[in-house]
Amino acid sequence: MNWSRKHLLDIQSLSAEEIQLVLDTAKAFKAVGERAIKKVPALRGKTVVNLFVEPSTRTRISFELAAHRLTADVVNFSVESSSLKKGETLRDTARNLEALNADMIVIRHSAAGAPHFLSRVVNVSVINAGDGSHEHPTQALLDAFTIREKKGRIEGLNVTILGDILFSRVARSNIWALLKLGARVTLCGPSTLVPRTFEQMGCTVTHNVDRAIEDADIINLLRIQHERQRKTMFPNIGEYTNLYSLNKTRFARIKPDALIMHPGPINRGVEIDSEIADCGRSVILDQVTNGLAVRMAVLFLLNGGKGPGELGV
Ligand code: CP
Repeated sequence: MNWSRKHLLDIQSLSAEEIQLVLDTAKAFKAVGERAIKKVPALRGKTVVNLFVEPSTRTRISFELAAHRLTADVVNFSVESSSLKKGETLRDTARNLEALNADMIVIRHSAAGAPHFLSRVVNVSVINAGDGSHEHPTQALLDAFTIREKKGRIEGLNVTILGDILFSRVARSNIWALLKLGARVTLCGPSTLVPRTFEQMGCTVTHNVDRAIEDADIINLLRIQHERQRKTMFPNIGEYTNLYSLNKTRFARIKPDALIMHPGPINRGVEIDSEIADCGRSVILDQVTNGLAVRMAVLFLLNGGKGPGELGV
């Protein structure tokens, strides 16, 4: 199939074929990244603006590096030194970036829907790098890429997402992607953070962590998103850790080939035991490595790239 979208705003609206095309293209870009010369001229003469209105380490840096690897010009927008601080609206900021001939805007924003809004007010490609609690599409794509790379498939796997689901854009994008690709998804955490309404998406919801992890092929841990919680969702962190963290006792009971994932940033000792985060079955840093190839694939396809065949690998 050919990619025909101008924007990447969410996973919900993508088909399984579109997701597979991104993953296949990312696989080719990962091979490019293992060559002596890691750059390709696919985006020569194009300008990518990283418009991050919320903090980020992994997503911002890997989009920046991905654009450089594709030979694009990259501008990193800093909120603190921008005119957003003087009351300029997001719409006016984006229209000024468009007037400066930006070709792609990668936006992270605390407001759900901000990328969709931008896609309606500017005539450049918009990529959602995380919007509030809504979606984080490239995180789900790199997670799916990592699962497929490590397990050889996604269809039929049991994936457990454990932690703060309600406030997590990573969870929502992962749920859409994994279900479209044929995995079974179980969500677990305190009932205040994992409401039964998620069953309507096609997931299993449980508040029993031992049940959630016993048959899991993949355990994806999420941190508590304090920055989005407007009230106390559980008594205290110590109780959360006792009841829901992946500690050594629970780890000893999971399947011997189960993989541990986390989108980062990790809160060591809260949702995951520090040694487990660094153990041989943790693929947390592989996720980061794969994020670069996935973001190269996304930039390439949105710029008119046809797919992996065009890369000659
Ligand atoms: N996983 C993720 O989005 O990390 P950052 O917030 O550091 O980009």
